[in-house]
Amino acid sequence: MKIHIIGGGNLGSAIAVGLAKNAKGNNITVTRRNIGFIQHLTEYGIVVSQSNTEGISEADLIILAVKPHQVDAVMAEILPHITNKIIASVLSGITLEYLNKKVDGTNTVLRLMPNIAAQFGASATCISARTADLPKANVVTELFNKIGTAVIIDEKLMDAGTVLGACGTAFALRYIRASMQAGIEIGFDAKTALAIAAQTALGATEMLLNQQVHPEQLIDKVTTPQGCTIAGLNEMEHQGFSSSLIKGIKVSLQNIKSE
Ligand SMILES: NC(=O)c1ccc[n+]([C@@H]2O[C@H](COP(=O)([O-])OP(=O)(O)OC[C@H]3O[C@@H](n4cnc5c(N)ncnc54)[C@H](OP(=O)(O)O)[C@@H]3O)[C@@H](O)[C@H]2O)c1
Repeated sequence: MKIHIIGGGNLGSAIAVGLAKNAKGNNITVTRRNIGFIQHLTEYGIVVSQSNTEGISEADLIILAVKPHQVDAVMAEILPHITNKIIASVLSGITLEYLNKKVDGTNTVLRLMPNIAAQFGASATCISARTADLPKANVVTELFNKIGTAVIIDEKLMDAGTVLGACGTAFALRYIRASMQAGIEIGFDAKTALAIAAQTALGATEMLLNQQVHPEQLIDKVTTPQGCTIAGLNEMEHQGFSSSLIKGIKVSLQNIKSE
């Protein structure tokens, strides 16, 4: 595939690097105005450019990764140069209806919500499309499954997918930071505490994904009756551990909707 990513910022660059490393054989171009910030992408065989339109007529997939308020200007710039392309937008809050009105049947539009772990082949990516466009969404899903896990969802869940999958990166990191801080309090230096906390979170995730079981089944395996794990876990729950996470995710969703 020839993949043209417009907007080489945090997410656009992360997707480009993830695809270059994990979906080899594709031809990837990334554009942005301040091209100096993305020169390092060339180390991965990615072409960088200041032009959004050069070579775009040969692209199979165009990924829009600018800020939402820049979408109109970018669409006006590229649409005269493209037909029958897949345009995948990662822009929060920009609907399929809005994008479809812009393309007016000339191209297929999809919405994607990846996260920056795409760079390490570990993005949770939500994808939505109109029913008629699902075959093309499947092609993109296959591609994004190479840089993590990609699922097709109903567009009405896209905000929820953003909170769980993209904001969720920050929530997971805050869990690791809290574990690290506790690790320091119980005797480790910061570096060792972080290494143990991060690897433990990764290990738990690997087990969950490999064994495809409910988290509680794995928790049962590490909680000895009257042991220290269940004592710590129950104290966390008394202090509102699960409840605070659930409430935080719901408040995030309320705020995305009021933006
Ligand atoms: N970061 C995340 O975790 C995340 C997750 C999910 C979705 N998103 C969505 O992804 C989009 C990008 O987010 P981000 O965090 O990557 O933002 P960002 O770092 O600000 O990246 C946006 C990039 O677009 C470039 N740009 C602006 N105007 C352009 C133009 N006319 N042509 C080409 N490039 C242009 C900017 O570079 P120049 O100024 O140099 O052109 C900038 O590098 C947003 O719409 C956001 O809703 C982000």
